[in-house]
Amino acid sequence: MTRPIGIHDLAVATTGYVLALDDIAAAAGVDPAKYRIGLGQEQMSVPGPDEDIVTLACAAAAQIIGRHGADRIRTLFLATESGVDQSKSAGVFVHRLLGLPDACRVVELKQACYSATAALQAAADMVARRPDEQVLVIASDIARYDIGSPAEATQGAGAVAILVAADPSIARLEDRVGVFTSDVDDFWRPNDRLTALVDGKASVSAYLDGMTRAWDDYRARGGVPVTQIDRFCHHQPFTKMAEKAHRRLSEHTGVALDPTLITGSAAYNRRIGNSYTASLYFALASLLDHDDELAGRRIGMFSYGSGSVSEFFTLVVSDGYRARTRGESTRGMLAARRPVDPPRYRALRAAGASVRSDLDVSIAPESPGSFHFIGITAGARQYTRR
Ligand code: COA
Repeated sequence: MTRPIGIHDLAVATTGYVLALDDIAAAAGVDPAKYRIGLGQEQMSVPGPDEDIVTLACAAAAQIIGRHGADRIRTLFLATESGVDQSKSAGVFVHRLLGLPDACRVVELKQACYSATAALQAAADMVARRPDEQVLVIASDIARYDIGSPAEATQGAGAVAILVAADPSIARLEDRVGVFTSDVDDFWRPNDRLTALVDGKASVSAYLDGMTRAWDDYRARGGVPVTQIDRFCHHQPFTKMAEKAHRRLSEHTGVALDPTLITGSAAYNRRIGNSYTASLYFALASLLDHDDELAGRRIGMFSYGSGSVSEFFTLVVSDGYRARTRGESTRGMLAARRPVDPPRYRALRAAGASVRSDLDVSIAPESPGSFHFIGITAGARQYTRR
């Protein structure tokens, strides 16, 4: 009999600062209900000067290494759309900072908010061939839009690390998947820009179209009927989007899906904001931490990355998953973030944007975690663990 393969452990991290969307609304003269109800968002995580996708990735993955060690990790996939270098994988910094074995392959994957799902599927296939090996998948992103744009309130930042292994303690991946790709300019970030360009309304419609097409492919390939799926995590660029997706899936399948099947998945993203490729996996972490009745249940996962690639797949939750989740520490981490007001948030944004590779700079560690970006020397990014 083939061994089950899937998520053996999962841990999350976010930034040291947080901005309340009510404050952004007040500063912009917008009704705060637009963000709280219209977008389903309350806060956004804001990176400090010494935080980036590498430090967030390390903070998430260090929890997994602390629990399982690194001896069996032969591959690290770093999924991001806010990479720090056009050539070197951010995962190589992470590999050193975490002390992963030298005999390990490391690569970065990009396709907007989707790439962590590609990494997860590739990892499962690798473990299927060599079940004694483990693959570390890390999704890490910082969402940046232009100040004053409609998308600004959906920004956020965070990382999710996933250990993929045989006989997983948290959830096994099922084989049937549905995929869909369509070349569409709904959201993108040219090489010369720090902030994304987005046609927000087009992105909502491309997301919903991608979901129904991925669902149809999933069913055509032998995926189970929607009535056999017990919970859903839909990609959450803002949490209201998951409600739209759930309604659309209901209309598309003709089955009245209970709105509470997505309720547990929104708690973290409401407070973190969009973490792009990590967002779907924050939704999964939230569901696992807030629902005690998941053992043996099937979770439908919808992954969307603008541009666009969509995938629908399923997980079945392992018995005893509750003993492996980290809800208390994640809630503690969210509560410990230091509040910033809109002027301070804008100053942090400006300071981050001023860091250039052609100027040596030294940055003092100030965030509460162990991993820090400490500046640029001879064009190369420098990190420390303390
Ligand atoms: N109280 C309650 N709800 C309110 C409100 C108020 N005072 N004012 C507005 N709303 C609701 C609107 O009715 C709308 O809800 P609906 O989508 O259910 O119709 C929602 O808030 C958003 O308002 P809208 O005017 O459409 O927002 P916007 O033009 O400011 O832009 C996005 C919204 C999502 C397009 C924008 O945030 C964006 O571009 N985000 C980035 C791209 C993205 O995340 N895409 C998702 C797919 S990947």
